Amino acid sequence: MIRKDIIVIGAYVIIMKINKIHCMDCIEGLKQIEDNSVDCIITDPPYGINYKSNHYKGENPHTPIINDDTLFIPMNELKRVLKPTGAMFIFFSHKVPLVDKDLKNVIIWVKNNWTAGDLYGDFGNQYECIGFIPNKEFKIKGKRYSNIWNFDRLPADKLKHPTQKPKSIIRRIIQVASKEEDIVLDPFMGSGTTAVVSKEMNRKFIGFEIEESYFNIINERLSQDSLSNYTHNKHSTTKKYGTTK
Ligand SMILES: C[S@@+](CC[C@H](N)C(=O)[O-])C[C@H]1O[C@@H](n2cnc3c(N)ncnc32)[C@H](O)[C@@H]1O
Repeated sequence: MIRKDIIVIGAYVIIMKINKIHCMDCIEGLKQIEDNSVDCIITDPPYGINYKSNHYKGENPHTPIINDDTLFIPMNELKRVLKPTGAMFIFFSHKVPLVDKDLKNVIIWVKNNWTAGDLYGDFGNQYECIGFIPNKEFKIKGKRYSNIWNFDRLPADKLKHPTQKPKSIIRRIIQVASKEEDIVLDPFMGSGTTAVVSKEMNRKFIGFEIEESYFNIINERLSQDSLSNYTHNKHSTTKKYGTTK
């Protein structure tokens, strides 16, 4: 029988299962991925914004994000698993800048509206940054865009996760940076936008999410999107990191 949930590259088998979300600390999970085996990394790491929205009338309904007080990127591990032809796209905020010697460009995501914030002492924030870190042999697939991208954000009442990204912007990244059947990795899945779009675009995915309540949301989204073979693969390691259950 041919196993479709593990990957064979050359003589190696990648132990980490593909097309699954792993409810665990990505630091542990990444260790199980083979060197030079991932085509595209899209990630939105916790980055110190401790999300609040004025759209919520009462309590913020979302679970606080773990590791949200610093920019938390296991960069060495991400570089280790990325193929020489691959590229990384990392969301970050101007408040916690991304500093890396291989940062080649910063894509500015311009949103359709801006935050209220400090009404009298600051300008409304209407953008987010995406750090572009390609490996040497990476080539853009298809159309070449500028580094200013306009995509609508999701309305607050539609969010399943406080920093959920719209599928449209993830689709753009996957389109320019991968081909069908390529492997897309997102070590900080949140509500699973990268997984859902990867599946829709016929890419393989590997994902980690440490917080069990968000892990459940991902699986709910994947099953709603008729991805019924993307089942739970829960690891006991989540408990020691203080997840909700
Ligand atoms: C900014 S959110 C990602 C949101 C996502 N882009 C989306 O569209 O929903 C970052 C996520 O990383 C998770 N996280 C934090 N530390 C982690 C770790 N060490 N391993 C795996 N996930 C982690 C948080 O629980 C949070 O859900």
